[in-house]
Amino acid sequence: MENAIKNYEDVDSWKTIMFLYTSALKEVGTKLEILNDEFQHVHQYNPIEHIKTRVKTPESIVKKLRKNGYEISIENMVKYVNDIAGVRLICSFTSDIYRLAEMIGNQSDLKVLSIKDYIKNPKESGYKSYHMLVSVPIYLSDSVVDTKVEIQIRTIAMDFWASLEHKIYYKFEGNAPEYISRDLRECAEMVSSLDEKMLSLNEAIQKCLEEQEA
Ligand code: GTP
Ligand code: MG
Repeated sequence: MENAIKNYEDVDSWKTIMFLYTSALKEVGTKLEILNDEFQHVHQYNPIEHIKTRVKTPESIVKKLRKNGYEISIENMVKYVNDIAGVRLICSFTSDIYRLAEMIGNQSDLKVLSIKDYIKNPKESGYKSYHMLVSVPIYLSDSVVDTKVEIQIRTIAMDFWASLEHKIYYKFEGNAPEYISRDLRECAEMVSSLDEKMLSLNEAIQKCLEEQEA
């Protein structure tokens, strides 16, 4: 942002904007914790394994604007960079993902701006996750500002793959040899069958327990 921020006014608006995104993360993070606690209370079960939040660094904001051909400005970053505030929800089972997505969609003060289901439609790389872009109202002393937060929902296994793929692939800056991309896609398939197997095992166990209780 060094080049983009030329005067004190810009520094000021940069700080204000980042304050909004940090606040939005807090709001959404708390909401999700409450949903998880309520679920635990009602069903004795936690759909969320853990939650990670992060604010995008100035360097990656600038990089993304450049990549997409936008001039570096605070206005453009607010308009075009949708993942400045990011939340990642890691669940145990694929079924938890859709349960959570529905719960998030039902929160009346969150607006769902868009959904990308990379579980039903995986990326070319093999990447799987459920993405929701939402906006949350941030109440300031004299105004209310709708602020965007990107929510990524995935299983532990999908997260394992995405983290390692990111580490491996990043080094190649998109020019990995074909066999590496192919092997990574193969790993993604293994991850998917692992998720399926774990889900059906869990369903089988639940059924056994219900039969024992009956
Ligand atoms: P980005 O410019 O990467 O943010 O893509 P986008 O604006 O088209 O959004 P998309 O929903 O496709 O991806 C957003 C985020 O999903 C990325 O910032 C990554 O965190 C994650 N992601 C998407 N594709 C991949 C992938 O192939 N591998 C990994 N590891 N992560 C991915
Ligand atoms: Mg991103």
